[in-house]
Amino acid sequence: MEAQYGGTPAVPAAKVTVPDIVAAKHAGRKITMMTAYDAAFAKLVEASGIDIILVGDSLGMVVLGHPTTVPVTMEDMIRHAAAVARGAKRPLLVGDLPFGSYQASTADALRNAARFLKEAGMDAVKLEGGREVVETVRALVDSGIAVMGHVGLTPQRVAQLGGFKVQAKTSRAARRLIDDAIALEEAGAFSVVLESVPAPVAELVSERLRIPTIGIGAGPGCDGQVLVLHDVLGLFGEFKPKFAKRYADLGPVIVDALKQFDAEVRDGRFPDAEHSFPMKESERLSLEESLKPRKVG
Ligand code: KIV
Repeated sequence: MEAQYGGTPAVPAAKVTVPDIVAAKHAGRKITMMTAYDAAFAKLVEASGIDIILVGDSLGMVVLGHPTTVPVTMEDMIRHAAAVARGAKRPLLVGDLPFGSYQASTADALRNAARFLKEAGMDAVKLEGGREVVETVRALVDSGIAVMGHVGLTPQRVAQLGGFKVQAKTSRAARRLIDDAIALEEAGAFSVVLESVPAPVAELVSERLRIPTIGIGAGPGCDGQVLVLHDVLGLFGEFKPKFAKRYADLGPVIVDALKQFDAEVRDGRFPDAEHSFPMKESERLSLEESLKPRKVG
């Protein structure tokens, strides 16, 4: 394959579709999803062969520096989702509806979900919640918008939940979660994210649904897995959830590169001839001549 960017290989052109994701469950093929927030990283995620890019509202924490996802706005999401769509074509692209963009009315939800498709090139949207959002999910699906659900730890409710805590730990709470996931499937969602729930609960949900479950902190029994890109690459040091496996530790690599730049500029080693533009000697001499002080009188 031909090198595309930064040494990464070009990827096959076949676009991943919503039916492909549903079919993967029935074929027993695991689904992979990764977050991305800009064109450069979207290109790298695409080169890895991952099925789905989620432009998550985790944007607020790992990129915009907020303590939670709650302050993220629709404008933030559209700007970053559009950048992701410019960077990656093959993966299924899912835009995460931020807090306040779909709860007040189905009209809000339809308008904001449509913005993801029309202005940001997303293929589908995700929203958080169980039975309380099924009417919204149904309205979106009826309007032709593919919807991914999200139950368990729903970070937009972090204050109500009392922090980023494991959910559905009791049989009663687990039963509610299973019913929520079934309600989302019945409303037309094409997949459901299960976040921070005990592995046996996620396995039971996955067995009961015809649509795929995509787990994060939900054990191996899900039909697919998602992680936050900055956790995977070691680019987010504020806190590390137990479930977030770090596949690379790029933070120190980046700091080291920046330290080298800092030192080389300070001691005059950068920029050198290799990184500077030369000028024809005749042009330089002519310029110097033109700058010589003119004789007065
Ligand atoms: O915002 C996000 O990145 C998410 C994933 C954690 C599923 O919702």
